[in-house]
Amino acid sequence: MSKRKQLLAVVVAGGIFAAGGFSALELQATPEFGRVIEPFYGKHQGGIEVARQANLTFLALDIKEGIDKKAVGRMMRVLTADAALLTQGQGIIGDSQFEMAENPARLTITFGFGYSLFEKIGAADSWPISQKVIPAYLIDKLEKQWNDGDLLIQAAGDDPISLFHAIHELARDASPFATIRWQQRGFSNAAGVNIGNNPRSLFGQVDGTANAAIGTPEFDGRTWSTSPSNFVGGSTMVIRRIRFNFGTWDRLSTNKKDAALGRKLKDGSPVSGGDLTTPLNLDSKKSDGSYEVADDAHVRIAFTDKNRGITRRGANYDDNYLADGTHDAGLIFTSFQAELKRFLDIQAALAMVDSLNKWTTPVGSALFIIAPGVEKGDWVGSSLLS
Ligand code: HEM
Repeated sequence: MSKRKQLLAVVVAGGIFAAGGFSALELQATPEFGRVIEPFYGKHQGGIEVARQANLTFLALDIKEGIDKKAVGRMMRVLTADAALLTQGQGIIGDSQFEMAENPARLTITFGFGYSLFEKIGAADSWPISQKVIPAYLIDKLEKQWNDGDLLIQAAGDDPISLFHAIHELARDASPFATIRWQQRGFSNAAGVNIGNNPRSLFGQVDGTANAAIGTPEFDGRTWSTSPSNFVGGSTMVIRRIRFNFGTWDRLSTNKKDAALGRKLKDGSPVSGGDLTTPLNLDSKKSDGSYEVADDAHVRIAFTDKNRGITRRGANYDDNYLADGTHDAGLIFTSFQAELKRFLDIQAALAMVDSLNKWTTPVGSALFIIAPGVEKGDWVGSSLLS
């Protein structure tokens, strides 16, 4: 049993279970919750093959003029050392507030690199995949402030204060080398809520069902790159900021919402029948001859088989209201895939027919490669950038 599960088991075992819930006293009796740590070193970077965390912050940076390959190496040495400490609940050298590192609450820190970085430092030949950018799609209405970046830092964890502190410290240590391009903050269910189940999107849909379970060969096959040799154990990462159009969605009937997705709002089960664990039946038809999972249903268009899938680890976002009154909220779609082509194929198809396009607008798009994980003494990105 993982340490987290053990802790939760302790809570449950010792709990005052009244009227279907735990008392506030009980929750206060679990200070250890914040101390749970996730490993930093290993074959893969953290923050990808890990049970869902409650909060995610994505920070994209651009290197400053005059920063060369060697300087990028120096920056990554510093940031790697910082991340190794912060994820283990320890402050960094020169930490602005050591105490804020004490409760990492499963903090993970993941680094990605954009093609623009490789270009700027004269290392374009070392970019390990054939595609350099995500193409523009007809559905896109991209806003400059959410696109691209030389360096991506993903911090994820169950405590927003630990996340704030980590990003704050990393941004400061990166500041001699790089400037901030954008930051996006996302959230899922609060830590301890809905454990073991997939969270809901801000449209209310159960999201994440078709992901491969972590720790399985299928997860590995979907997620981790197998070539070239200096990129084995790495991945490709896509971040798309997708704004939801709640105005018309809110007025749809539940049946229409179910049909647009191909899964039921109620419990995430396929509209073709069965429960959450039942595979989609894309062939079953209604008495009028039409498909139960509609021709343009999101899950029909996004469906992949033969282990060609992707690993989605998106987060909801809610960034207040735009000047015209639009609620700026939606999904920070994030996917990791062994080969970027898998994402590109799905996205190209979705951009043409997905029913959800009526209620969603991609406003940001970014591609990063995720370097393989490292052992102590090494720095993240060394296999690609040294
Ligand atoms: C527009 C906003 C989007 C929303 C609200 C959304 C929501 C969902 C939901 C609720 C599901 C069903 C449950 C699940 O398997 O997770 C799903 C499935 C899926 N989505 Fe999305 N999604 C969006 C965009 C995307 C994008 C941009 C991609 C990739 C390009 C994508 C790829 C997938 C895939 C691969 C599946 C699983 C299909 C299957 O094999 O059953 N989605 N999505």
